[in-house]
Amino acid sequence: MQTLLEPVSANSIKTAAALLQAGEIVAIPTETVYGLAANAFSNSAVAKIFTAKGRPQDNPLISHISSLEMLDGLVRDVPKSAYALADAFWPGPLTLVLKRGARVCDAVCAGLDTASVRFPGHAAARDIISACGVPLAAPSANLSGSPSPTTAQDVLSDMSGRIPLIVDGGACSVGVESTVLSLADGQPTLLRPGFITKEQLEKVLGAPVAVAHAVLQPLSAGETAASPGMKYKHYAPKAAITLVHGTAEAYREYVRAHMEDGVFALCFSDESASLPCPCVTYGQAEDAESQAQQLFSALRELDARGARIAYAHCPAQSGVALAVYNRLLRAAAFHAIEV
Ligand code: TXA
Ligand code: MG
Repeated sequence: MQTLLEPVSANSIKTAAALLQAGEIVAIPTETVYGLAANAFSNSAVAKIFTAKGRPQDNPLISHISSLEMLDGLVRDVPKSAYALADAFWPGPLTLVLKRGARVCDAVCAGLDTASVRFPGHAAARDIISACGVPLAAPSANLSGSPSPTTAQDVLSDMSGRIPLIVDGGACSVGVESTVLSLADGQPTLLRPGFITKEQLEKVLGAPVAVAHAVLQPLSAGETAASPGMKYKHYAPKAAITLVHGTAEAYREYVRAHMEDGVFALCFSDESASLPCPCVTYGQAEDAESQAQQLFSALRELDARGARIAYAHCPAQSGVALAVYNRLLRAAAFHAIEV
């Protein structure tokens, strides 16, 4: 199959919608990462997403909407708290897990009695959903296990020959996937940290938000993940990453002492000049939003430059930085050290 790459235009939106309505899959831009979309009401269309990504069948997908009316059939018994959050953060990078509706197909829910939904902030994503007239299921448009794509070129390098069309909406402004919050039972629970922070959610809910164990810990053998995606190896470049906790000074010393061929530093932009090895940077030390925006392209750059080992300077662990930390922990397969 030939994969076309088209910039966002009235024409490409029309082509994307026609393919999606015909049961095909299309990569679309969102403000978080690129998504690989299919009609959320069609099992056969959604099955193509799992094949193209090589995604485990038991990992459910997020359905994307472009109006609150589209919640109908997708989810049911929507609590007041969900509408309050929608009012505060939609359109935007927040996904809500709710009770499953009657029309959403089995392949999207992967056997769960819940369904997750997001109203994306990227105008082209909303235009494509509206042109289709149905919610679009869309996981990140990478091969399963590799870093999420934040440019159309990233999608092309993973999906070339596997999908008919990529709509190019430029580099993603957020750069990490949406915050996933479960409202499916009594206790609001953060399943995946993102650009919308725990603190922001608590402020709107007027109540504490629990954090799922899997956000910061590997699952132990036999443990069930609240969010199935958490149990898989994720975001992993070919380089072996070690997450280094410590001051800027201690990090520099550690990297100096461990220099060899193929060793890279994955560091903040203000640090690269003082490090004695090849560096790939991911944002500025005090700016979590810039770190989020650049992290996945930095992981892809490590591969492109043939890194064998990368020492990553650990980000902070609250606010937006919690999302960056959560992704890096997985990229490092939870290999972290204190210096
Ligand atoms: O920003 C995003 O959310 C991007 C863009 C394309 O919208 N999408 C995305 O999808 O990151 P994906 O499939 O890569 O990640 C979805 C995560 C997975 O960890 C999955 O297990 C979890 O959300 N998830 C989806 N539905 C769920 C449900 N019903 N219950 C619990 N977890 C769910
Ligand atoms: Mg993903």
